Amino acid sequence: MSSHRPVKRQPERSEKRVAVTTGSTSQPVRILAISGSLRQVSSNTALLQAAIAAAPTTVEMRLYGGLGDLPHFNPDLEPMEPPVVTDLRAHVKWADGLIISSPEYAHGVPGVLKNALDWLVSGEEFIGKPIALFNASLRAVHAQAALTEIVTTMAGRMVPEASITAALLGKNLDAAGIVADAEIFGQLQAAVISFAKAIESF
Ligand SMILES: Cc1cc2nc3c(=O)[nH]c(=O)nc-3n(C[C@H](O)[C@H](O)[C@H](O)COP(=O)(O)O)c2cc1C
Repeated sequence: MSSHRPVKRQPERSEKRVAVTTGSTSQPVRILAISGSLRQVSSNTALLQAAIAAAPTTVEMRLYGGLGDLPHFNPDLEPMEPPVVTDLRAHVKWADGLIISSPEYAHGVPGVLKNALDWLVSGEEFIGKPIALFNASLRAVHAQAALTEIVTTMAGRMVPEASITAALLGKNLDAAGIVADAEIFGQLQAAVISFAKAIESF
C-alpha cells in the first residue's frame, strides 16, 4: 500500500484507522494520534492526518476522535466510569505509543486535552507509554513545555528525537496540502520512523 494515500480534509468523529500490512509476520507498531484541537480545520489535526499518510507500512496509526465527547474530569465519577472514558483508555492501551499535537491557548494546554489526560492519571494505560509531541506552530512553546511536564509527571516516556515543530503557522494547509509539502512531509516521515524505532528499542 502506498503511504501517499489521499487524505480527507476533515477528521471524522470516530477514529480513523490506516491499517498497514507488510506481509511479514511481525506486528506493526501501533501509534495513537491525539489532536488537542476540536476545530474543524485544525492545523494540528491536519498535521496528524498527514503523519498517518507519512507512516511506513510497518506502522499502524489511528487518530483518536473522542476528545470533545469526554465529560469534565471529576474523580467522583471514576467508580462509575463513563463509557467514553473507557473507550479512551482502550485506545491508549491499544497503542504502543502516542503522538500528541496541540495548539497553545493563553500560553497553556487546551482544556479539552488536559481533561483527557486528567482522566488517564489514575489508570495504568499511560504509564511508561512512549510519547512524541508534534507542534504546528513555532510560537507555541509554552504549551509544549507544559505538555512535556504533564506527560512526564504521568510517567509517560518522552521521545524527544520524534518530537517536531512544523512551520505551518500562516500557511493554511490542510492534510493534503501538508502531504504535498515535501519539506514538512519529509519531516513527518522522519519523525514517525524515529518514533517507531524508539518504541521498538524500549
Ligand atoms: C483562545 C486562543 C488562545 C490562543 N493563545 C495562543 C497563545 O497563547 N500562544 C500562541 O502561540 N497561539 C495562541 N493561539 C493561537 C493558536 O494556538 C493557533 O491558532 C493554533 O494554530 C490553533 O491550532 P489548530 O489550528 O489546531 O486549532 C490562541 C488561539 C486561541 C483561539
